[in-house]
Amino acid sequence: MAPTLPKKLFFGGDYNPEQWSREVWHEDVRLMREAGVNLVTLGVFAWANLEVAEGVYEFGWLDEIIELLHEGGIGVDLATATASPPAWLTVKYPEVLPVNRSGVRLSHGGRQAYCTSSPIYKERATALASQLAARYGKHPGIVMWHVNNEYACHNAHCFCDVSAAAWRKWLQARYETLDRLNESWGTNFWSQRYHDWNEVQPPRETTMGTAPNPSMTLDYFRFSDDQILELYKAERDAIRAVDTEHPITTNFMSTYGALALNYFKWANEVDFVSTDHYLMAHDPDRHIDHAFGGDLTRGWAKGKPWLLMEHSTSAVNWQPVNRAKRDGEELQNAISHVARGSEGALFFQWRASIRGSEKFHSALVSHEGTTNRIWNQMVELGGKLAGLEDLAGTQTAPAEVAIVFDYESWWALSQPNLPSKLLDYPKFVQSWYRALWSLGVRVDIVSPEVTLAELAKFKLVLTPMTYLMSHDLEAKLLDYQANGGNLVTSFFSGISDETDAVKLGGYGGRYVREGFGLRVSEFAPIAEPAALSNGATAEIWQQFAAVTGAEVLATFTDGVAAGQPALTVRKTPNAAAWYVATWLEPNAAKEFFQKVVLELGIKQDGNEQTEVVVRGDMRFVFDHQRSTVEWSQI
Ligand code: GLA
Repeated sequence: MAPTLPKKLFFGGDYNPEQWSREVWHEDVRLMREAGVNLVTLGVFAWANLEVAEGVYEFGWLDEIIELLHEGGIGVDLATATASPPAWLTVKYPEVLPVNRSGVRLSHGGRQAYCTSSPIYKERATALASQLAARYGKHPGIVMWHVNNEYACHNAHCFCDVSAAAWRKWLQARYETLDRLNESWGTNFWSQRYHDWNEVQPPRETTMGTAPNPSMTLDYFRFSDDQILELYKAERDAIRAVDTEHPITTNFMSTYGALALNYFKWANEVDFVSTDHYLMAHDPDRHIDHAFGGDLTRGWAKGKPWLLMEHSTSAVNWQPVNRAKRDGEELQNAISHVARGSEGALFFQWRASIRGSEKFHSALVSHEGTTNRIWNQMVELGGKLAGLEDLAGTQTAPAEVAIVFDYESWWALSQPNLPSKLLDYPKFVQSWYRALWSLGVRVDIVSPEVTLAELAKFKLVLTPMTYLMSHDLEAKLLDYQANGGNLVTSFFSGISDETDAVKLGGYGGRYVREGFGLRVSEFAPIAEPAALSNGATAEIWQQFAAVTGAEVLATFTDGVAAGQPALTVRKTPNAAAWYVATWLEPNAAKEFFQKVVLELGIKQDGNEQTEVVVRGDMRFVFDHQRSTVEWSQI
């Protein structure tokens, strides 16, 4: 059996002692104890300090700090330090540096400056992971392994010749013959037909105003995701070869910068899911995005314990205006994740750096020291988490509503030449999540790979803008409906199959025709808001559809598609299927979902001000007006 996360709640964060003197280390351990810190993530960006030239390792300082932390009772989440290759590596092997879409080779100086198909990077990273595992795998202070850091954050897609060769190999494994590739990509368009594997290039920047083949680009997303997963697996396996005791993870990115990796797939390869979440200052409903992040992570983890590996004590340093958190807001953030299944709350970072580009990012120990509100709040949080220790290993209460979240639809919709540039997949998914959140309805997030048995547990399943829909998913959803499951879907769902070929005979294919009783014939995207006959305001989309087996709840009242169905419901003896042919503005979405939820008898607990989440036997109540959170046993 693979090792799992120890049953406790963790509190702490990224610790970068290589930036500080020995004197500070001692002070750090003292302060960590004062705050109740029980875990630090060590060495994330320390490659250059651990391997000073190829094969020349200097572990002395790491031995010392691990020992010091252990003596202080603080556990270590030991990073493999491979997120930022040292300068010597890319000077010696310049081909390790990544190349962007326009053919420019990028330079050392930031982080993650490596090509994700580079065999040299993979070999050196794996060698370092092996060294660390052999040296520290048996150390009693080690609690878990942290491979790399936020894979794909800065180097998701590389377009160099090494990547091109790996890409062709990946395609040969996927398609076996060029005929199959040509068919799947529709290469009879624009003279794209390939006659030799060597003619196939990555989707590099091409002539002005044009873009590479969208089916090919979609495959490049899949290929890059697979290449990066192989890097993770190589390090993981190197650790596992010498340490069978400690769980291994890598930190995902929950709702920001997460476009490149299919975390549902990645979740199968880690011993436990861990993630990072940062609030977006520009978003007035950032607390709902925060809730979504926790629910999404629980979805990747399939209900198993997971860990919030990073968030911020207050402001970050990478947004246009880096807002500080309100008093009480950080406690709400940490506890919101815990209520949604996180086994604790960790931060970036323990002590604010004085140099480097992250020096103005908040930390537990600020530049000022520890006589400030952040430190006081951290001491308070440490105490509260210790008091919640019994929650470890328990589960968040299951929801009655599921949202299908599909990375591949997101990848396909991030490309140009769609009917509208305003089709924002994650934003649209969140517009539905937010409506339900404000109605006090808790939601589980599932992948398109969800089984029929898993779907059957939900009263209602939503497929918002699920643009790519495999015939398998289509069949699963229709079977779910036939067994009495209720559905809500939207415009631009079920449009293409997994090769991004448009399904014929009404947009949305069988799913929309049979499941919702509509035959959608033409899109009519809009730039200005438009009205519906029920008084609601709609944005971004109108369309033409023949109603073949549904009841019309509202029509578009103006614009080119005036009179066409905007909201419909198809009722079968034991289920209902609602179709939303537009992007409802927030109040309209709330009104729509209120009716759906009432009709299906779905439980509501909370509202826009008061959010309720249940985990184990604990009921957490968040007051978003007063920035408070309280909990009590049920
Ligand atoms: C990410 C990284 C950290 C740090 C923070 C800053 O989460 O993993 O190393 O850069 O962002 O917010």
